[in-house]
Amino acid sequence: MREGNHDAEPPVDELCDRIVALYHDNLHRTLPVLVGELARLAEHDCAGEMLAETRAVVAELVPQLEGHLSKEENVLFPALAALAQADREGRSRPPLPFPTVLHPIRMMETEHARIETAMARLRAITQGFAPADDASVAWRHCLTQLARLDADLREHHRIEDEELFPRALELERRLP
Ligand SMILES: [Fe+2]
Ligand SMILES: [Fe+2]
Repeated sequence: MREGNHDAEPPVDELCDRIVALYHDNLHRTLPVLVGELARLAEHDCAGEMLAETRAVVAELVPQLEGHLSKEENVLFPALAALAQADREGRSRPPLPFPTVLHPIRMMETEHARIETAMARLRAITQGFAPADDASVAWRHCLTQLARLDADLREHHRIEDEELFPRALELERRLP
């Protein structure tokens, strides 16, 4: 395995699978729950203006995130898996839906930045996801979920931007 030069690093396709199992699956599971909890809170109007602003940002963020995950899972990651497979089998670059993976990778990086901008807005609105002393249990729970989403997205994007994408580009360059 030529990729095995970096002994400690999993192959690119294995890294994609780990990202999906560690981060994507969790997002698919937790985003609808978060949206539902925010909607229920709004019915009881516990957190007023802060809740309304949070819901507005989340309403934009969730479809952005779902579209992003879908592009990675259905387009980019299968292409990276095909590159990794060709590398293992000593084959040349397989036919892909794009001339190079550079363009979809750049698009994913741009989307990461957009998602992070939305998360920064949520941090600002909620004053760092910190509940007020008189915050309800339900609102505290939503803030905890948002803080976890923020931390997970930072690590998720860091792994993709700093590990997966550079290695995928290097792999593509290396294939005959
Ligand atoms: Fe991802
Ligand atoms: Fe991503």
